[in-house]
Amino acid sequence: MQDIAMYIIEILMNSIYANSNNIICHIEIKTSINQLLIIIEDDGKGMNDELLANVTNPFTTTRKTRKIGLGVAFLQHLCDQCNGDLTIKSKENIGTITVVKLPYDHWDIPPLGNIGQMMMFCIQANADIDFILQYIKDEHTFFFDTKLIKQELGEVNIDEPDILLWIKEYINQGIKGENL
Ligand SMILES: Nc1ncnc2c1ncn2[C@@H]1O[C@H](COP(=O)(O)OP(=O)(O)O)[C@@H](O)[C@H]1O
Ligand SMILES: [Mg+2]
Repeated sequence: MQDIAMYIIEILMNSIYANSNNIICHIEIKTSINQLLIIIEDDGKGMNDELLANVTNPFTTTRKTRKIGLGVAFLQHLCDQCNGDLTIKSKENIGTITVVKLPYDHWDIPPLGNIGQMMMFCIQANADIDFILQYIKDEHTFFFDTKLIKQELGEVNIDEPDILLWIKEYINQGIKGENL
């Protein structure tokens, strides 16, 4: 996969398929300790111990449409390649938390990619789910919460094309520190 956002989309899609109501995506770059930390947390249906133990295996899927499930396997592969670490904790009917730690300057780590587009993609077909994005790079912090956006929008739907495009730009500018 060409960027980190694409890996994250796979994990976010898993949370969406798990019928979550709230999904938190935390992306943090700590240059002082050379770490890229990604945490995705959902309140979906979770996994039982057996499914959780096998979730990084490419042949693990509960989909009916195909026999391989690659989202988590790809992420595990990236972590293995880059001396990173992937930890997934899950409880049935409670939710799942995925923690990825990668050495930020490793040459096999793809660029972060388009996080605004990633969030837009997740929100557009799932307007009922609330998403939080927290982005931290050292001293710089950006916070985005669809609940707050929905409050501001009132009668207007969050999945209207203009709003989605605005969200994408707003997030990408916020990440760059240009929303001030
Ligand atoms: N956040 C999650 N909540 C509940 N189940 C999950 C979650 N993430 C992954 N799973 C389970 O792990 C399986 C494998 O995930 P993945 O590797 O992304 O493949 P796929 O999504 O194609 O099935 C999924 O089919 C699902 O049953
Ligand atoms: Mg998947």
